[in-house]
Amino acid sequence: MKPIISPSILSADFAHLSDDMEMINRSQADWVHIDIMDGVFVPNISFGFPVLKYVAALTDKPLDVHLMIVQPEKFIPEVKALGAHVMNVHYEACPHLHRVIQQIREAGMQPAVTINPATPVALLQDIIKDVYMVLIMSVNPGFGGQQFIEHSLEKVRELRALIDRTGSKALIQVDGGVNLTTGAQLIEAGADVLVAGNAIFKAADPETEIEQMKDL
Ligand code: DX5
Ligand code: ZN
Repeated sequence: MKPIISPSILSADFAHLSDDMEMINRSQADWVHIDIMDGVFVPNISFGFPVLKYVAALTDKPLDVHLMIVQPEKFIPEVKALGAHVMNVHYEACPHLHRVIQQIREAGMQPAVTINPATPVALLQDIIKDVYMVLIMSVNPGFGGQQFIEHSLEKVRELRALIDRTGSKALIQVDGGVNLTTGAQLIEAGADVLVAGNAIFKAADPETEIEQMKDL
């Protein structure tokens, strides 16, 4: 099966975002990855809902919303209003993760959970059957253009084993330092969804880059 490709607009040209969104629309990209930061959970701030309202209107592709914020459950109505397909929250930001996952599902979105590089896959054992997708961060979240952490490959293999053992249907997504080289290794390890920012938007021909990722 071909991987799902989700370009991260964090690396797009914010002054010409509509051009970059048109490129995504023309391309073979499956989803659009949107990174929301709060300067608290991660040491950076990206964009908020007043801006995203306009971004969301520029595409019909499913929105894959990655919230790098504390108390993400507060923003379920705002994420829903964007028309998001996936609402993704961090394991480390949710002491009551089970409740948050149910709330996201009740709001009519697909719930996903993300783990940081230092968070073990084994901690997902009791939630794996309730989530649509798990995102393994392969860099420390907060910035685009960082180097892929090699150990992430081992985590993908471990997660694949957990999913197979429990009969979960969760997709495996990876985000951070993903390019054609690391992407191929990730797919081999069992990843289903590749997020890529710099590899796509800094490429000479972003549309072709997406096509090549799709063909990995
Ligand atoms: C990082 C974000 C990523 C980021 C990936 O915190 O979650 O989605 O845009 O950027 P690249 O692909 O450049 O590492
Ligand atoms: Zn992300």
